[in-house]
Amino acid sequence: MPTILAIESSCDETSAAVCVDGKILSNFIANQTVHEQYGGVVPELASRAHMQNIVPVIDAALTQAFPQLLTPHSRLQTLDAIAFTQAPGLIGSLLVGTQFAKSLALALNKPLIAVHHMQAHVLANLIGEERPDFPFLCLTVSGGHTQIVLARSPLDLEVIGETIDDAAGEAFDKSAKLLGLPYPGGPLIDKYAKEGDPLKFKFAEPQIPELNFSFSGLKTSVLYFLQKQEPGFIEQHLADLCASIQYTIINILLKKVKKAIQQTGVRRICIAGGVSANSGLRKTLQEAGTKHGWKTYIPPFEYCTDNAAMIAITAYYKYLANEFSTLDVGPSARAEWSISNY
Ligand code: KG4
Ligand code: ZN
Repeated sequence: MPTILAIESSCDETSAAVCVDGKILSNFIANQTVHEQYGGVVPELASRAHMQNIVPVIDAALTQAFPQLLTPHSRLQTLDAIAFTQAPGLIGSLLVGTQFAKSLALALNKPLIAVHHMQAHVLANLIGEERPDFPFLCLTVSGGHTQIVLARSPLDLEVIGETIDDAAGEAFDKSAKLLGLPYPGGPLIDKYAKEGDPLKFKFAEPQIPELNFSFSGLKTSVLYFLQKQEPGFIEQHLADLCASIQYTIINILLKKVKKAIQQTGVRRICIAGGVSANSGLRKTLQEAGTKHGWKTYIPPFEYCTDNAAMIAITAYYKYLANEFSTLDVGPSARAEWSISNY
């Protein structure tokens, strides 16, 4: 019955969660609004905000998980391990969570578990009531990554397709920026798309071999299209523009999902990462699943974007497999540090 405290600080969300025997008891997330005015995450500001948030967020996660324990000391003493996001991410942000976890592990004399952020996004699908059996495919779509992962077991994941340039979340955010929307633009495109016609405007869809993706052409296609329009065009057609951009991104993703299912013969498909919060993507995948006979799994909304619950559930499986880290472990910013050989 391991009791694990997990910390996530890879980008601009400070989060802490407690998991007992694979069950999530708490999951607190502090969002950083300071970046909105800059149109993207400012690494130095993110690190500072993590420093401010980390103690109250961990305190809140522990208090909610153990209301019967009245002191911070007694709550900390119940822990069997401390887990943290080791890679990939912004190095200054990762450092805050890593150092905190290491200090706590040292002070409490408890084992330390280093978790790969992308592995955790995939395993977020194992948190809810309805969990996929293995093997399953996972479309991981976030602000930094776009991957199709073949999951054979919790600790045996293989990336079978990925983006060669921008991530799907970047495609949303950069297109939104061209439309004058603030960062992060993905949720806003989702919101306005609900009122728009997805077939009103047509944007470029790339022809990329195998199971890989490309999104940089879409951004350029949106840019050239907007440059040709009269002033006021965006305001007048915002909903249709958002719906058409979202439709194109979803189409690019869905084509490769279909191909991955054909190639692997695995008919269980999960989604993960911030973009899996997109209502159009959720609906399209569910409809495609019903049409083609795939089983589709979509994690609860709070486990789609960055959160520590997914770090905790991954740490749980690593705990069972005795995969612990020593205190000389450090963070790594590198995105290409693949989960396939993690
Ligand atoms: O996984 P995540 O929280 O952070 C990392 O990148 O690791 O993903 C953030 C990304 C951003 O690009 C954001 O615009 C996008 O997820 N996103 C969405 C939606 N909610 C978040 N994109 C489209 N529709 C949404 N509803
Ligand atoms: Zn993420």
